[in-house]
Amino acid sequence: MSEPVRWGILSTARINDKVLAGAREAAGFSVLAVASRDAARARAWAAEREIPRAYGSYEELLADPDVEAVYNPLPNALHVPWTLRALQAGKHVLCEKPFARTAAEAERAYALAAERGLLLSEAFMYRHHPQIARLLSLVAEGAVGRLRLVRAQFSFPLAEASDVRLSAALEGGALMDVGCYCLHAARTLAGEPSAFAAVQEHGGDGVDVRFAAALRFPDGVLAHFDAGLDCAERDELEVVGEAGTLWLDDPWHGVRPGISLVRGGAVQEIAVPAANPYRCQAENLCAAIRGEAELLLGAADGVAQARAIEALYAAAG
Ligand SMILES: NC(=O)c1ccc[n+]([C@@H]2O[C@H](COP(=O)([O-])OP(=O)(O)OC[C@H]3O[C@@H](n4cnc5c(N)ncnc54)[C@H](OP(=O)(O)O)[C@@H]3O)[C@@H](O)[C@H]2O)c1
Repeated sequence: MSEPVRWGILSTARINDKVLAGAREAAGFSVLAVASRDAARARAWAAEREIPRAYGSYEELLADPDVEAVYNPLPNALHVPWTLRALQAGKHVLCEKPFARTAAEAERAYALAAERGLLLSEAFMYRHHPQIARLLSLVAEGAVGRLRLVRAQFSFPLAEASDVRLSAALEGGALMDVGCYCLHAARTLAGEPSAFAAVQEHGGDGVDVRFAAALRFPDGVLAHFDAGLDCAERDELEVVGEAGTLWLDDPWHGVRPGISLVRGGAVQEIAVPAANPYRCQAENLCAAIRGEAELLLGAADGVAQARAIEALYAAAG
């Protein structure tokens, strides 16, 4: 068994607790350090979670030679800049979604990772849940016949006006925050899109609080999705073929995993084992860093996802 990978966390972001709870169950993961813009906050946060080292700046954490890999859950606008700095410091990086808003930014970061021989991955934890592997195998086995349509949705009502998701300067917005999952799932199922149509509604300090998109993929597959930060909670993924439909009630969090196959008027419920997607994600990253597994989400996926986000914002005007 390889040595556990020693991780450092940039910031005391709210999402850390979910990611850490899963990652701490993962084989090969250990958390060594956390950094915050505020040293006292870093110390208190680390003490509560029994994390050995706490730093009062992100720079200090990146200078720690014992940190091998960095988890970057900063606000979206800081994903690429701090990922570049982490790579320059010789660390592997797991960066929260959405990694980048433009293809050029993503290309630059993945090129640097390749140049340094480091791994960089966008943290689409939903993709690591076994229900997505099962969905892909059902499609590949022809469970619904030839793929024709993908439909996805992800929305929730954001309570706090001060949330980073409502800040244009921090690159918030519905497409960036939740629509990116719908887009990623459509790309995972259908390949890379060639045509984009989209509309958005603004809120917060000028971000898209609602976003609706339609895309064309190879072989005439179409996809449409919507995302919202001021709508009721909804999360759904439907995969439509010539002969049937696959439907996931909880595609993004995977708390209620399971797939419904509707074919010929009959519904078959396909059970999927429970799994913590954050644990699965951490296991893939740690094994890939040790050279024991392929990285599930690497450069090709990260760059193509950023390219599609850029095209969708351009289409929405
Ligand atoms: N994969 C998932 O399931 C999932 C779920 C939720 C969120 N996310 C992603 O995770 C990221 C963080 O989301 P979150 O809701 O956890 O954010 P959050 O609670 O607002 O945390 C962001 C952290 O970034 C640091 N920070 C640095 N510069 C900042 C600035 N100018 N303004 C605000 N904070 C700043 C702060 O930590 P310090 O003060 O300690 O430095 C802050 O706690 C986002 O990219 C989001 O898309 C992913």
